[in-house]
Amino acid sequence: MNPEEISKKRNIILIGFMGTGKSSVGCKLAEKLGWTFVDTDALIERKESLTIPEIFALHGESRFRETEHEVLHEALRQSSQIIATGGGAVLRRENRELMLERGWVVALTAAQDVIVRRVEQDPARPLLQGNARQRVAELMERRKDVYGFADVTIDTTDLTVEAIAELILARRQV
Ligand code: S3P
Repeated sequence: MNPEEISKKRNIILIGFMGTGKSSVGCKLAEKLGWTFVDTDALIERKESLTIPEIFALHGESRFRETEHEVLHEALRQSSQIIATGGGAVLRRENRELMLERGWVVALTAAQDVIVRRVEQDPARPLLQGNARQRVAELMERRKDVYGFADVTIDTTDLTVEAIAELILARRQV
């Protein structure tokens, strides 16, 4: 990356499957850097004045994805932010392009069992309702290649939030 490219990349964007720790790590990073923490799921809920399960139930996933794109686009106009994205935000090509253009993209991964343990009891994830173990397995298989565009990938399976944040800072390019 030449200096001009690096200077445009003024955000750290966390991507990854549900339960990989994007929000906890994002908060920790924001604290360490003194940057603003932004969670796109929270922005979506604020914009729609509904919870995520309500958006899915009332308007469907396509409306959720549309709003997700809008809030990401708006957030990326600003700089010096840690942006935690929803696990499906990378599904649209335009979102992936926007992230790479406006931020340094860090993918968090974790072993399937660890993800299941982290998300199993959570009613706030509409895509995992029913048999969470089976849904995670299906979705992880379907999404196995979508996080590969990141600038850096970190396996969080055996790491604490603190250790992940430190690892990201050690490898930081913005
Ligand atoms: C989704 C992930 C969720 C949330 C929504 C859809 C996905 O965010 O955006 O339930 O498609 O993977 P987290 O990754 O923060 O759980």
